[in-house]
Amino acid sequence: MTDEQERVQPSGVWATAVGVARVRALETERENALFRDPLAQAFAAAGGLWPASPPLPDDEAARRRRLAVSFSIVIRTKFLDDLLQQACAAGVRQVVLLGAGMDSRAFRMDWPEGTRLFEVDTAAPLDFKASVLQQERAVARCERITVPVDLREDWPAALAAAGHDPSAPTVWIAEGLLIYLPQDAVELLLARIGAQSATGSRMGLTLGSRGVIERFGADAAPGSAASMWVSEMPDDPVAWLAGHGWEASCHTLRERAAAYGRPINTPPQHEERPGGLIAAIRR
Ligand SMILES: C[S@@+](CC[C@H](N)C(=O)[O-])C[C@H]1O[C@@H](n2cnc3c(N)ncnc32)[C@H](O)[C@@H]1O
Repeated sequence: MTDEQERVQPSGVWATAVGVARVRALETERENALFRDPLAQAFAAAGGLWPASPPLPDDEAARRRRLAVSFSIVIRTKFLDDLLQQACAAGVRQVVLLGAGMDSRAFRMDWPEGTRLFEVDTAAPLDFKASVLQQERAVARCERITVPVDLREDWPAALAAAGHDPSAPTVWIAEGLLIYLPQDAVELLLARIGAQSATGSRMGLTLGSRGVIERFGADAAPGSAASMWVSEMPDDPVAWLAGHGWEASCHTLRERAAAYGRPINTPPQHEERPGGLIAAIRR
Protein backbone atom coordinates (compact mmCIF):
# COMPACT_ATOMS: atom_id res chain seq x y z
CA MET A 1 0.00 0.00 0.00
CA THR A 2 1.20 3.52 -0.71
CA ASP A 3 1.38 6.22 1.95
CA GLU A 4 -1.63 7.83 0.36
CA GLN A 5 -3.81 4.74 0.66
CA GLU A 6 -2.81 4.21 4.28
CA ARG A 7 -3.16 7.83 5.29
CA VAL A 8 -5.97 8.60 7.69
CA GLN A 9 -8.19 11.31 6.18
CA PRO A 10 -8.96 14.54 8.03
CA SER A 11 -12.12 14.62 10.10
CA GLY A 12 -13.65 16.51 13.00
CA VAL A 13 -11.70 19.35 14.58
CA TRP A 14 -8.34 18.42 13.11
CA ALA A 15 -9.65 18.78 9.55
CA THR A 16 -9.43 22.51 10.28
CA ALA A 17 -5.63 22.17 10.42
CA VAL A 18 -5.59 21.07 6.77
CA GLY A 19 -7.77 24.03 5.83
CA VAL A 20 -5.22 26.30 7.54
CA ALA A 21 -2.44 24.65 5.50
CA ARG A 22 -4.37 25.45 2.32
CA VAL A 23 -4.50 29.13 3.27
CA ARG A 24 -0.74 29.10 3.94
CA ALA A 25 -0.11 27.41 0.59
CA LEU A 26 -2.03 30.20 -1.17
CA GLU A 27 -0.07 32.87 0.71
CA THR A 28 3.18 31.13 -0.20
CA GLU A 29 2.35 31.61 -3.90
CA ARG A 30 2.05 35.39 -3.52
CA GLU A 31 4.90 37.52 -4.69
CA ASN A 32 4.85 39.62 -1.52
CA ALA A 33 4.11 36.70 0.81
CA LEU A 34 4.31 37.48 4.55
CA PHE A 35 5.86 34.01 5.03
CA ARG A 36 6.67 31.01 2.90
CA ASP A 37 5.46 27.58 3.91
CA PRO A 38 6.75 25.15 1.28
CA LEU A 39 5.10 22.11 2.93
CA ALA A 40 1.62 23.63 3.18
CA GLN A 41 0.60 22.64 -0.32
CA ALA A 42 1.50 18.97 0.31
CA PHE A 43 -0.62 18.94 3.48
CA ALA A 44 -3.55 20.52 1.65
CA ALA A 45 -3.20 18.09 -1.27
CA ALA A 46 -3.02 15.06 1.04
CA GLY A 47 -6.25 16.24 2.67
CA GLY A 48 -8.02 16.71 -0.68
CA LEU A 49 -7.97 20.52 -0.59
CA TRP A 50 -5.46 21.14 -3.38
CA PRO A 51 -5.48 22.07 -6.24
CA ALA A 52 -9.30 22.17 -6.14
CA SER A 53 -10.62 24.54 -3.55
CA PRO A 54 -13.93 24.16 -1.77
CA PRO A 55 -16.38 26.26 -3.83
CA LEU A 56 -16.90 29.72 -2.41
CA PRO A 57 -20.45 30.05 -1.12
CA ASP A 58 -22.96 31.88 -3.37
CA ASP A 59 -24.12 34.00 -0.51
CA GLU A 60 -22.07 37.23 -0.47
CA ALA A 61 -21.92 37.45 3.33
CA ALA A 62 -20.69 33.85 3.57
CA ARG A 63 -18.01 34.55 0.92
CA ARG A 64 -16.83 37.57 2.84
CA ARG A 65 -16.65 35.52 6.04
CA ARG A 66 -14.58 32.80 4.35
CA LEU A 67 -12.15 35.39 2.97
CA ALA A 68 -11.95 37.10 6.37
CA VAL A 69 -10.99 33.83 8.08
CA SER A 70 -8.28 33.18 5.46
CA PHE A 71 -6.94 36.70 5.90
CA SER A 72 -6.82 36.33 9.68
CA ILE A 73 -4.86 33.08 9.34
CA VAL A 74 -2.21 34.83 7.23
CA ILE A 75 -1.85 37.73 9.67
CA ARG A 76 -1.73 35.54 12.77
CA THR A 77 0.90 33.29 11.17
CA LYS A 78 3.17 36.27 10.56
CA PHE A 79 2.48 37.62 14.08
CA LEU A 80 3.50 34.33 15.69
CA ASP A 81 6.51 33.84 13.39
CA ASP A 82 7.80 37.19 14.67
CA LEU A 83 7.01 36.30 18.28
CA LEU A 84 8.97 33.05 17.97
CA GLN A 85 11.95 34.86 16.48
CA GLN A 86 11.89 37.35 19.34
CA ALA A 87 11.74 34.53 21.89
CA CYS A 88 14.76 32.86 20.28
CA ALA A 89 16.63 36.18 20.26
CA ALA A 90 15.88 36.46 24.00
CA GLY A 91 17.50 33.06 24.53
CA VAL A 92 14.48 30.75 24.78
CA ARG A 93 15.33 27.30 23.42
CA GLN A 94 12.16 25.32 24.10
CA VAL A 95 9.15 25.74 21.84
CA VAL A 96 5.78 24.08 22.43
CA LEU A 97 3.13 24.23 19.71
CA LEU A 98 -0.20 23.34 21.34
CA GLY A 99 -2.69 21.99 18.81
CA ALA A 100 0.17 22.02 16.29
CA GLY A 101 -1.87 20.67 13.38
CA MET A 102 0.02 21.17 10.10
CA ASP A 103 2.26 23.92 11.52
CA SER A 104 5.55 23.46 9.69
CA ARG A 105 7.65 26.01 11.58
CA ALA A 106 10.12 23.31 12.61
CA PHE A 107 10.91 22.93 8.91
CA ARG A 108 10.55 26.43 7.53
CA MET A 109 12.10 28.72 10.17
CA ASP A 110 15.69 29.23 11.24
CA TRP A 111 16.29 28.00 14.78
CA PRO A 112 19.28 28.61 17.03
CA GLU A 113 21.47 25.66 17.88
CA GLY A 114 19.99 23.63 20.72
CA THR A 115 16.33 24.49 20.05
CA ARG A 116 13.87 21.76 20.97
CA LEU A 117 10.41 22.08 19.46
CA PHE A 118 7.49 20.02 20.76
CA GLU A 119 4.36 19.55 18.67
CA VAL A 120 1.34 18.60 20.76
CA ASP A 121 -1.84 17.40 19.07
CA THR A 122 -3.95 14.25 18.98
CA ALA A 123 -2.54 11.14 17.30
CA ALA A 124 -4.57 11.28 14.04
CA PRO A 125 -3.30 14.66 12.76
CA LEU A 126 0.25 13.87 13.88
CA ASP A 127 0.13 10.54 11.98
CA PHE A 128 -1.27 12.26 8.88
CA LYS A 129 1.43 14.91 9.16
CA ALA A 130 4.18 12.31 9.57
CA SER A 131 3.14 10.51 6.40
CA VAL A 132 3.19 13.76 4.39
CA LEU A 133 6.55 14.77 5.88
CA GLN A 134 7.95 11.39 4.92
CA GLN A 135 6.57 11.69 1.39
CA GLU A 136 8.17 15.15 1.08
CA ARG A 137 11.42 13.96 2.68
CA ALA A 138 11.16 16.99 4.95
CA VAL A 139 14.03 17.65 7.33
CA ALA A 140 13.44 19.62 10.53
CA ARG A 141 15.78 22.54 11.26
CA CYS A 142 15.74 21.96 15.01
CA GLU A 143 15.13 19.01 17.30
CA ARG A 144 11.45 18.21 16.70
CA ILE A 145 9.49 16.04 19.10
CA THR A 146 5.85 15.07 18.55
CA VAL A 147 3.62 14.51 21.58
CA PRO A 148 0.37 12.75 20.69
CA VAL A 149 -2.06 13.60 23.47
CA ASP A 150 -5.48 15.15 23.85
CA LEU A 151 -5.17 18.56 25.50
CA ARG A 152 -8.15 17.68 27.71
CA GLU A 153 -6.03 14.91 29.25
CA ASP A 154 -2.84 15.10 31.33
CA TRP A 155 -0.73 16.64 28.57
CA PRO A 156 1.89 18.17 30.95
CA ALA A 157 2.86 14.62 31.98
CA ALA A 158 3.10 13.56 28.34
CA LEU A 159 5.18 16.65 27.53
CA ALA A 160 7.51 16.02 30.46
CA ALA A 161 7.89 12.38 29.39
CA ALA A 162 8.83 13.66 25.91
CA GLY A 163 11.67 15.71 27.46
CA HIS A 164 10.23 19.16 28.14
CA ASP A 165 12.09 20.89 30.98
CA PRO A 166 9.80 23.23 32.96
CA SER A 167 12.77 24.77 34.78
CA ALA A 168 14.00 26.38 31.54
CA PRO A 169 11.98 29.04 29.69
CA THR A 170 9.55 27.92 27.02
CA VAL A 171 7.76 29.75 24.25
CA TRP A 172 4.22 28.42 23.95
CA ILE A 173 2.04 28.86 20.90
CA ALA A 174 -1.70 28.24 20.87
CA GLU A 175 -2.67 29.29 17.36
CA GLY A 176 -6.25 28.76 16.21
CA LEU A 177 -6.79 26.47 19.19
CA LEU A 178 -8.56 28.16 22.10
CA ILE A 179 -11.64 29.01 20.03
CA TYR A 180 -12.33 25.24 19.87
CA LEU A 181 -12.10 24.67 23.63
CA PRO A 182 -14.91 25.38 26.10
CA GLN A 183 -14.16 28.11 28.63
CA ASP A 184 -13.35 25.75 31.52
CA ALA A 185 -10.91 23.85 29.27
CA VAL A 186 -9.26 27.17 28.27
CA GLU A 187 -8.82 28.10 31.95
CA LEU A 188 -7.33 24.70 32.76
CA LEU A 189 -5.00 24.89 29.76
CA LEU A 190 -3.74 28.34 30.84
CA ALA A 191 -3.22 27.15 34.44
CA ARG A 192 -1.25 24.14 33.22
CA ILE A 193 0.86 26.24 30.83
CA GLY A 194 1.63 28.60 33.73
CA ALA A 195 2.69 25.72 35.95
CA GLN A 196 5.22 24.60 33.30
CA SER A 197 6.57 28.09 32.58
CA ALA A 198 9.86 29.26 34.08
CA THR A 199 10.51 33.01 34.40
CA GLY A 200 11.29 34.43 30.97
CA SER A 201 8.85 32.13 29.20
CA ARG A 202 6.78 33.59 26.40
CA MET A 203 3.41 32.85 24.93
CA GLY A 204 1.59 33.62 21.70
CA LEU A 205 -2.17 33.14 21.60
CA THR A 206 -4.93 33.75 19.14
CA LEU A 207 -8.37 34.35 20.60
CA GLY A 208 -11.74 34.57 18.90
CA SER A 209 -12.74 38.22 18.85
CA ARG A 210 -15.89 39.27 20.64
CA GLY A 211 -19.05 38.41 18.72
CA VAL A 212 -17.26 36.23 16.15
CA ILE A 213 -19.23 33.12 17.06
CA GLU A 214 -22.52 34.90 16.58
CA ARG A 215 -21.40 36.56 13.34
CA PHE A 216 -19.63 33.57 11.77
CA GLY A 217 -20.82 30.50 13.63
CA ALA A 218 -24.57 30.92 13.72
CA ASP A 219 -25.20 29.95 10.08
CA ALA A 220 -21.94 28.04 9.54
CA ALA A 221 -22.16 24.87 7.46
CA PRO A 222 -22.18 21.70 9.60
CA GLY A 223 -18.64 20.36 9.96
CA SER A 224 -17.04 23.68 8.97
CA ALA A 225 -14.45 25.25 11.25
CA ALA A 226 -16.83 28.00 12.38
CA SER A 227 -19.47 25.44 13.37
CA MET A 228 -17.02 24.12 16.00
CA TRP A 229 -16.12 27.48 17.56
CA VAL A 230 -17.13 27.72 21.20
CA SER A 231 -14.87 30.31 22.94
CA GLU A 232 -14.24 34.01 22.50
CA MET A 233 -11.76 36.29 24.20
CA PRO A 234 -12.63 37.62 27.65
CA ASP A 235 -13.64 41.27 28.18
CA ASP A 236 -10.18 42.23 29.36
CA PRO A 237 -7.53 39.84 28.00
CA VAL A 238 -4.65 41.72 29.71
CA ALA A 239 -6.25 41.38 33.16
CA TRP A 240 -7.24 37.78 32.44
CA LEU A 241 -3.66 36.85 31.54
CA ALA A 242 -2.25 38.85 34.46
CA GLY A 243 -4.38 36.60 36.65
CA HIS A 244 -2.58 33.65 35.07
CA GLY A 245 0.84 35.21 35.73
CA TRP A 246 1.52 36.76 32.30
CA GLU A 247 2.30 40.29 31.19
CA ALA A 248 0.40 40.48 27.94
CA SER A 249 0.16 42.87 25.04
CA CYS A 250 -2.88 42.63 22.81
CA HIS A 251 -3.27 43.48 19.16
CA THR A 252 -6.11 43.65 16.68
CA LEU A 253 -6.01 42.03 13.30
CA ARG A 254 -6.57 45.45 11.70
CA GLU A 255 -3.56 46.98 13.45
CA ARG A 256 -1.22 44.07 12.67
CA ALA A 257 -2.44 43.85 9.07
CA ALA A 258 -1.59 47.53 8.55
CA ALA A 259 1.82 47.03 10.17
CA TYR A 260 2.54 44.17 7.74
CA GLY A 261 1.54 46.19 4.68
CA ARG A 262 -1.83 44.47 4.20
CA PRO A 263 -4.20 47.14 5.45
CA ILE A 264 -7.88 46.34 5.79
CA ASN A 265 -9.49 49.07 3.73
CA THR A 266 -13.08 48.59 4.80
CA PRO A 267 -14.26 50.45 7.91
CA PRO A 268 -14.99 48.31 10.98
CA GLN A 269 -18.51 46.82 10.80
CA HIS A 270 -18.53 46.24 14.55
CA GLU A 271 -16.50 47.12 17.60
CA GLU A 272 -12.93 45.78 17.31
CA ARG A 273 -11.32 45.41 20.70
CA PRO A 274 -7.65 44.61 21.04
CA GLY A 275 -7.04 41.05 22.08
CA GLY A 276 -7.35 38.69 19.15
CA LEU A 277 -3.56 38.40 18.88
CA ILE A 278 -1.67 38.13 22.14
CA ALA A 279 2.01 38.18 23.03
CA ALA A 280 2.85 37.50 26.66
CA ILE A 281 5.92 37.24 28.87
CA ARG A 282 6.27 35.53 32.25
CA ARG A 283 8.19 37.73 34.70
C1 LIG B 1 -7.37 25.28 13.39
S1 LIG B 1 -6.20 24.00 13.74
C2 LIG B 1 -4.73 24.98 14.00
C3 LIG B 1 -3.48 24.19 13.83
C4 LIG B 1 -2.18 24.96 14.02
N1 LIG B 1 -2.06 25.53 15.34
C5 LIG B 1 -2.03 26.02 12.97
O1 LIG B 1 -2.35 27.19 13.23
O2 LIG B 1 -1.60 25.67 11.86
C6 LIG B 1 -6.65 23.47 15.39
C7 LIG B 1 -5.79 22.32 15.89
O3 LIG B 1 -6.07 22.13 17.29
C8 LIG B 1 -6.08 20.74 17.54
N2 LIG B 1 -6.91 20.47 18.71
C9 LIG B 1 -8.18 20.90 18.94
N3 LIG B 1 -8.63 20.36 20.10
C10 LIG B 1 -7.61 19.61 20.62
C11 LIG B 1 -7.46 18.82 21.77
N4 LIG B 1 -8.45 18.69 22.65
N5 LIG B 1 -6.28 18.19 21.96
C12 LIG B 1 -5.27 18.32 21.07
N6 LIG B 1 -5.35 19.05 19.96
C13 LIG B 1 -6.51 19.68 19.72
C14 LIG B 1 -6.68 20.13 16.29
O4 LIG B 1 -6.37 18.74 16.19
C15 LIG B 1 -6.05 20.98 15.21
O5 LIG B 1 -4.85 20.44 14.75
